[in-house]
Amino acid sequence: KKLTVGVCVMEKKAFSAPMLEILQRLEAFGEFEIVHFGDKVILEEPIQSWPICQCLIAFYSTGFPLEKAEAYASLRKSFLVNELGQQHLLHDRRKVYERLEMFGVPVPRYALVNREYPNQELDYFIEEEDFVEVHGNRFLKPFVEKPVEGDDHSIMIYYPSAAGGGMKELFRKVGNRSSEFHPEVRRVRREGSYIYEEFMPTGGTDVKVYTVGPEYAHAEARKSPVVDGVVMRNPDGKEVRYPVLLTPTEKQISRELCIAFRQAVCGFDLLRCEGKSYVCDVNGWSFVKNSYKYYDDAACVLRKMFLDARAPHLSTTMPPILPWKIKEPVQQSEGLTRQGSGIIGTFGQSEELRCVIAIIR
Ligand SMILES: Nc1ncnc2c1ncn2[C@@H]1O[C@H](COP(=O)(O)OP(=O)(O)O)[C@@H](O)[C@H]1O
Ligand SMILES: [Mg+2]
Repeated sequence: KKLTVGVCVMEKKAFSAPMLEILQRLEAFGEFEIVHFGDKVILEEPIQSWPICQCLIAFYSTGFPLEKAEAYASLRKSFLVNELGQQHLLHDRRKVYERLEMFGVPVPRYALVNREYPNQELDYFIEEEDFVEVHGNRFLKPFVEKPVEGDDHSIMIYYPSAAGGGMKELFRKVGNRSSEFHPEVRRVRREGSYIYEEFMPTGGTDVKVYTVGPEYAHAEARKSPVVDGVVMRNPDGKEVRYPVLLTPTEKQISRELCIAFRQAVCGFDLLRCEGKSYVCDVNGWSFVKNSYKYYDDAACVLRKMFLDARAPHLSTTMPPILPWKIKEPVQQSEGLTRQGSGIIGTFGQSEELRCVIAIIR
């Protein structure tokens, strides 16, 4: 009997290229039945009539009824890759930072300015030409201003008058732009609640990290929108990414973050600044795009996660050949033999690295 894995996410996410790639690989193991809920069921059907699944992939995206999915998960006691209750935290940058700090993850120095109504006067908030002060904590320009809502990506950076002043607004990519400089703006926003934080100079690169469980993380670097707002693209139109190796400290951060938010599949942003790394953003469920190595790895890690959670009696040992690779055309390795190995012609497919021995003097 196969384990049922429910995909309870909006169709836009369920049918995204990386999701399909990874689900296809999961299915190839032969141990799982993938059940797509679909928008109609998620939005219109009562949870009692949703398909019954032992394992559940469920995460918030625009239009997703998070509470309803929570009710379903507790009704069916499904194993969740990413816990639903904790996904509420991701909507509020204040809660994200609070949780990161609780788990000892470094975040930029920050302060909160909460307003109950637009332009509310606050006695603890002072604004001068070159700094703001919140409860006596001073943030010299350049500083960063972020709306408290996690889904609001209008982030502003204010520059010191000595550098000519002005403000840079960052936003979600529109074509090939991701930020715009406004030389005339000198005053901060007053209409809502914001986080003020120190600007961490990174040399112009963001590190994007994608976890699949606490033991696995893929990282890549991209040009920061802060640089000039021009999105660098390859000839194929995809944003340019650079390979990154995480330091042991950063790997530990990934692990803690994954556990702190109970989101096995989780994307977040790291700022590398003066030899230290800070988390400035946690995005929840997010897959790497266009990396077959990552798709393979993610499928293997998810498989183990599902089996451990719902079929611990089954072996989670990996087959020597990944089941989806069999279908790929097998390279004929003519003349390539290994003396004494006994495996002629199949060399390169059924080998498995068992051990690395190093002698270090
Ligand atoms: N404290 C900071 N110092 C320097 N750059 C920052 C800081 N916070 C954010 N940024 C830059 O702004 C970008 C967007 O900020 P982020 O917090 O990730 O918000 P979003 O939700 O829009 O992704 C980051 O990728 C990073 O380049
Ligand atoms: Mg971000």
